[in-house]
Amino acid sequence: MNEKANAIIIQNLRKTFGGGDTAVQVIQDLDFNLQAGRFEAIMGPSGSGKSTLLHIIAGLIPPDEGSVKVGDREITNMSDREIAVFRRRNIGLIFQDHNLVPTLTAKENIGLPLMLDHAKDDGRVESLMESLGIAARRNHLPAKLSGGERQRVAVARALAGNPTVMLADEPTGNLDSPAAHEFCAILKKLNQETGCAILIVTHDPVIAAYAGNIHILRDGRFMDSFATNGDSALVSSRYLAAMKADQTENSRGAV
Ligand SMILES: Nc1ncnc2c1ncn2[C@@H]1O[C@H](COP(=O)(O)OP(=O)(O)OP(=O)(O)O)[C@@H](O)[C@H]1O
Ligand SMILES: [Mg+2]
Repeated sequence: MNEKANAIIIQNLRKTFGGGDTAVQVIQDLDFNLQAGRFEAIMGPSGSGKSTLLHIIAGLIPPDEGSVKVGDREITNMSDREIAVFRRRNIGLIFQDHNLVPTLTAKENIGLPLMLDHAKDDGRVESLMESLGIAARRNHLPAKLSGGERQRVAVARALAGNPTVMLADEPTGNLDSPAAHEFCAILKKLNQETGCAILIVTHDPVIAAYAGNIHILRDGRFMDSFATNGDSALVSSRYLAAMKADQTENSRGAV
């Protein structure tokens, strides 16, 4: 794929939940681009719209307005069936609860997207399990795996269909610190090896520092974006400064 091609292009995105007095405008006129092959992170306070945004990019919930392209395909006007197939072939999803099928082994879970597509495995499942260090657990059911192993099975499954983009929502939330670091190092390696663009949501500056760029979401808008240079202290201070600047703005508005 052309290095400069975009994995995700979002324009004028809006999403409101509820109506009347209880309406919450969760995403407000948001624009965003993720270039193919990039590894970037979204940070933001609880309730700022991070999960909603990932769900919209994955086609799991529709926006009220705006355009979302994944690769060169507009997803907002696809039918439910079209988006389900498109997602399986182009978007890898990792959410905190993994959504592994409890009655399938690790290997069967990883191969599930290929099986549903009647696609050939060609050794991809085995090679992903090798890369992720879970080959010895191939016949284990999810309940017999550790949290970190389940997480790696979820990553392998997300990558099985060779997606254009992987979306991960708080993927290290259930892991201890060494396992979270190991997980991020694996993601980074896979990003470099497979060229799959990765967009990760995290609250943790140390995790976010694995990404090339950070985008800070506040009240459904991106208010700052910057390069991490792999420096978690920089991520932390830029994040705090952005939150502080926003508070100052808000308090000025209130006067
Ligand atoms: N299905 C829904 N119906 C109504 N409101 C919703 C729905 N989903 C999310 N919201 C609201 O939208 C806002 C943003 O939610 P979202 O889950 O995107 O936040 P978040 O940034 O992921 O937060 P967290 O860091 O806590 O996971 C919240 O105020 C939430 O209550
Ligand atoms: Mg969330």
